[in-house]
Amino acid sequence: MSKWNRVLVAVVCLPLAPALASAVSTSGQELSEALRATPDPVHGAELFRNCAVCHGPTGGGTIDGGVPRIAGQHTSVLAKELVDYRHDRRWDIRMEHFADNHHLPDPQSIADVASYAHHLIPVKPPGIGDGQLVGRGEAIYAHRCSSCHGPAAGGDAKKRIPRIHGARAAAGAAGARGHRRAGGLSLAPCGAGGAAGYC
Ligand code: HEC
Ligand code: HEC
Repeated sequence: MSKWNRVLVAVVCLPLAPALASAVSTSGQELSEALRATPDPVHGAELFRNCAVCHGPTGGGTIDGGVPRIAGQHTSVLAKELVDYRHDRRWDIRMEHFADNHHLPDPQSIADVASYAHHLIPVKPPGIGDGQLVGRGEAIYAHRCSSCHGPAAGGDAKKRIPRIHGARAAAGAAGARGHRRAGGLSLAPCGAGGAAGYC
């Protein structure tokens, strides 16, 4: 690196470092406050009216997985996902809008709506594959996924690992999305349809 490049890196990057550090601590603080709050189901139901427009009244999402199912997901996972959209750690223009401070003004609101969605039971069955790859999916799941998501794909509320049992067939894409956020674990077999029945 030439001297001038080094100067440029220092000038451009140094002022950013404190901003990044404070963004991380604000989102961490917001999440821990949301996880400590006692959810209010009545306020949760009220807030969920906005969410229902896209995720459906029972939180089942769309069959193609374009709008994911959120019903039944661990509260801790939902809260983390909402905080990620609020703090530029996950990007989707619709969610950034509906998870912002205007719609969810404080950690209590995040707790309320996340807990409400956690307790929903979707009426519609999720989109499922044609079953042809189930055997292969099972082997891949046991080998590559169960160590984190659990043998029955129930996830882990404490470790904030999503429950993926009964999610949508289109979860290959969702998994890739989730794992890109988690640091780039490759989900090629899932994307290829192999583990989709289990996603
Ligand atoms: C305008 C449509 C729309 C509205 C309204 C909306 N969502 Fe979403 N939501 C989406 C879409 C689309 C995605 C997938 C985005 C992505 O790929 O990151 C999503 C993703 C999510 C996720 C991540 C789920 C996962 O499996 O990765 C959560 C949690 C969520 N929404 C909760 C909510 C809550 C709670 C509300 C109400 C406060 C809400 N959404 C309102 C469209 C919407
Ligand atoms: C090392 C632990 C680990 C392994 C192994 C793992 N996952 Fe995950 N997975 C996670 C974590 C953590 C998240 C949440 C990432 C986030 O929200 O930032 C996640 C997210 C997901 C999601 C998105 C769910 C949602 O609602 O947002 C799907 C689908 C998924 N994983 C499927 C799979 C499949 C299929 C495999 C095996 C091929 C697998 N995972 C292997 C830890 C793991």
